[in-house]
Amino acid sequence: MLTYKEQLNPDRLPTHIAIIMDGNGRWAKERGYERIFGHQNGVTSVREVTEAAAEIGLKFLTLYAFSTENWGRPQEEVGALMELLVDTIEKETPTLNKNNVRLLAIGDIKRLPGNAGEKLLGCIRQTAGNTGLSLVLALSYSARWEITDAIRQISADLCASKITEKDINDDLVSSYLTTKGIPDPDLLIRTSGEQRISNFLLWQIAYTELYFTETHWPDFRKENFYEAIYNFQQRERRFGK
Ligand code: IPE
Ligand code: IPE
Ligand code: MG
Repeated sequence: MLTYKEQLNPDRLPTHIAIIMDGNGRWAKERGYERIFGHQNGVTSVREVTEAAAEIGLKFLTLYAFSTENWGRPQEEVGALMELLVDTIEKETPTLNKNNVRLLAIGDIKRLPGNAGEKLLGCIRQTAGNTGLSLVLALSYSARWEITDAIRQISADLCASKITEKDINDDLVSSYLTTKGIPDPDLLIRTSGEQRISNFLLWQIAYTELYFTETHWPDFRKENFYEAIYNFQQRERRFGK
């Protein structure tokens, strides 16, 4: 039997895949562990999917790692997640360089605790010259935060006469978002069964294909990723035409 990877049509590969990595807590609870154990195991899936994306020559992979709403979780969980972030970024930087992967971040990065923010910016700088996959981490990100912030900046530029009312169109709005320069996702995957967007990329997913799977994030492997792409390739995108 052919694997999903072998069945992919190389002429119809997506350019950008975004993932809502959900279900870490449930995965851990089902095994009788604390939620953080699920987050720790989720790192393996991040590694797998990044590698899987690089293997097929995907240009952009965006991972929703922490939402602005996630700041409202118990202090202990937030602290553990930030620590995991710092550790992982530090450990993975050489591998990213080896695989020609460039790290980018979207979101309200200023809100990250000092060491997490610094490590993140350090890794972004150290991988800036890589020309393969762009791995975009959504951290302290929410779409409403991003759109509100864009409106604030557009208003300021209007008042300062840097732009005029006539300049405001789709492209201009896109250029004020934290995803500036990143094409809209072709495919959005959400793991762990919930069928909602949870404040992710609301502007950018206008014509994105959505794919939901019951698999919890810590169980998500390369073949799950390729299965989602295979499913995407069977669809007809019409863009309203
Ligand atoms: C996703 O898993 C990771 C983050 C949101 C940081 P969850 O922590 O949301 O796990 P569930 O959805 O409660 O199982
Ligand atoms: C979405 O998952 C955010 C991330 C995966 C980072 P949540 O678990 O926070 O979303 P809800 O609460 O199920 O909508
Ligand atoms: Mg969740």
